[in-house]
Amino acid sequence: MAERRADLRDDLLSELIRGRYTGVFSERELLSTILLLIIAGHKTVANMVTSGTALLLRHPEQLALLRADSGLIPAAIEEILRYEGSAAWASLRIAAQDMELGGVPIAKGSFVHLSLSSAGHDPDVYDDPERFDITRSPSRHLSFGHGAHFCVGAPLARLQGELAFGTLLRRLPGFELAVPPDELAWVADSSLSRGLEALPLRLHGRLSR
Ligand code: HEM
Repeated sequence: MAERRADLRDDLLSELIRGRYTGVFSERELLSTILLLIIAGHKTVANMVTSGTALLLRHPEQLALLRADSGLIPAAIEEILRYEGSAAWASLRIAAQDMELGGVPIAKGSFVHLSLSSAGHDPDVYDDPERFDITRSPSRHLSFGHGAHFCVGAPLARLQGELAFGTLLRRLPGFELAVPPDELAWVADSSLSRGLEALPLRLHGRLSR
């Protein structure tokens, strides 16, 4: 931040720093906004690409469908986000009033932590929710949140997903998991995200341009 402050340019970081001088942000708000953008914008997309690749490899018939028709990539991304959303939990909310949700009473002032992953597997909403199906339609989900705090980066994340999966399928004619699927380890930490610790792959064939 100090480096950029000394040399403001035509980029997002400089624009945010300018906001510090026009009264948009306090110093702490500026720092936390930049941190939020790095965490919310990087880890989520990296997890979407790795979890999605693992899902496709565990469902070879779906991978074959995608290889045969790259026009399915946007729908596949929505299904990956529904099935294995990389933000497993929404951030904490505080109930503004007494309420009842799914038969559970929630008192005004209590912390509420909503599981977005669980919403993606709701049998009242999805036909056979445990089936990973990239042709599912409509492929609505809550993996980017909902309402006032809906993910500001959703269009960018979708674009990055299209580029990542498009490039992967185009340039790697063959790849497979290098470990048995049940050996894939999920990061277990207190963050809101869900992602693999690593995705070991074995590649076949030459890289094409
Ligand atoms: C697959 C990728 C992504 C997923 C699954 C995801 C998920 C989410 C979710 C669920 C929320 C709402 C949290 C809540 O309501 O408590 C959120 C908010 C947010 N996301 Fe994303 N996100 C992704 C990518 C990105 C990217 C690429 C950026 C920015 C470059 C970004 C920036 C943000 C920010 C700044 C917020 C807070 C918005 C607000 O509070 O008004 N996200 N995201």
